[in-house]
Amino acid sequence: MKNIGVLFSGRGSNLFAIKDSIDQGRLDANMVCAISNRPGIPSIEAAIARGIATYSISSKGIAREEHDREVIKQLRKCDVELVCLAGYMRLVSAEFCRAFPDRIVNIHPSLLPAFPGLNAQKQALDHGVKITGCTVHFVNEELDAGAIILQAAIPVCDSDTEESLAARILKEEHRIYTEALRIVLSERWHIEGRRVIVDQ
Ligand code: GRF
Repeated sequence: MKNIGVLFSGRGSNLFAIKDSIDQGRLDANMVCAISNRPGIPSIEAAIARGIATYSISSKGIAREEHDREVIKQLRKCDVELVCLAGYMRLVSAEFCRAFPDRIVNIHPSLLPAFPGLNAQKQALDHGVKITGCTVHFVNEELDAGAIILQAAIPVCDSDTEESLAARILKEEHRIYTEALRIVLSERWHIEGRRVIVDQ
């Protein structure tokens, strides 16, 4: 069974969805740690209450490389084999990517490459697309640009607000993050160019 570590900065619903999948036997993995870069956020207490070994490594006022080095140190201490970004509001450094080559994944609330960066749901509404969704992808140094592992599409309704759309996307995020982790952890995949090919 592989060891995964989750990095988070906010409400942590993807973190808890992954934890649920493990606890309910839908994902064969060991969540060995969760690390927040924002000390004091309520999801940290909630993670501890769920029995997750949870650490805060504040990124405030610290250079990206320096902060990443601390995070890498903690991930290594915990023997993390796959790093899952779940609402982690930081770009990771080149050094971080080199420390876990093809072993960092992220979830993003749009069908990448459309609408990278912040407020992806608002970007989709503002653009007027009729279909949006979410993407699990490998992480490289560029924002939301690594090879795509899995996507789910969601129709945009005329009555949608940013909140209603975000809520529908989030439901799919929780579903496909587990599915994508199952693929990655199976080791039965390879990358051709930008394509993640699942081996039969
Ligand atoms: C999610 O929409 C995720 O796709 C994005 O940030 C949000 C985090 O939500 N990267 P949560 O903290 O997992 O609830």
